[in-house]
Amino acid sequence: MKLPLLIHRLKMRVKSGLPKPLLAAIRPAFRSSRRALCRLRRFLVGEASVGAGWPGTRQDFNDFWGEATTAEVYDEQARFKLDDVVLQMLPDGVGSLLDIGCGSGRFLGRLARMPRGGAIRLWGLDFSDAAVNLARSVVPQATFVCTSADKLPFRDGVFDATVCLETLEHIRGPEGVVSEAMRVLIPGGILIISVPDGEHDDTVCHVNFWNRESLSQLLGAYGATRVMGVGSSNLVACVQKPACGRYR
Ligand SMILES: C[S@@+](CC[C@H](N)C(=O)[O-])C[C@H]1O[C@@H](n2cnc3c(N)ncnc32)[C@H](O)[C@@H]1O
Repeated sequence: MKLPLLIHRLKMRVKSGLPKPLLAAIRPAFRSSRRALCRLRRFLVGEASVGAGWPGTRQDFNDFWGEATTAEVYDEQARFKLDDVVLQMLPDGVGSLLDIGCGSGRFLGRLARMPRGGAIRLWGLDFSDAAVNLARSVVPQATFVCTSADKLPFRDGVFDATVCLETLEHIRGPEGVVSEAMRVLIPGGILIISVPDGEHDDTVCHVNFWNRESLSQLLGAYGATRVMGVGSSNLVACVQKPACGRYR
């Protein structure tokens, strides 16, 4: 197993073992020292090469999701808060939704349990079969596909909504994933993306770091885009595909 993955697991174990008040007390100091280290690392190795050689392959994610405790620890409070924001952004009439990089299936599971969730045709996609197996057990009513996000195995214009949560920051060539996520949307459909706020993100396995402006730039070519901050650590963006005409 690669060293960064080991460090990540260790971090999660420690986090899950510490009492909540103690965690809350040490978090600010811990965050600012991580930010300083991150800036130093970006300064020393250069923006573009940060993340090079760190985990992010299908095998890394299989190792990650294959461990029984990982999903429990990963799907922590902060993720649920982020899900809440995304769930609120979903228009009422959504009849079909694809979750790209669905991981453990946590988001789909939450959507399925909502009053209107039962009426939505839910799809999940992830290139890790360990993730897909886990997600299938969490949301048996959804349909899952195990493949890469840069070439979606769907026709144009079949989903009312696509979401891609905490995934794009791991992917080299994120433009291709966004373009695919938009292609499979119906005209007028929406794509919702969440990523860490690149101004504060120091996660070793991430290869992309966006702030509000650069995320708007990435998505703006596809339709009306809104980017908002969630706390100090995440950005959530919503893009609506034009109801008619071409976006590119
Ligand atoms: C950090 S997890 C996020 C999972 C979930 N969306 C969430 O919000 O908790 C990133 C997920 O993206 C998947 N992933 C990374 N690169 C991918 C790619 N190129 N194609 C499909 N899935 C990918 C990983 O297997 C992993 O499950």
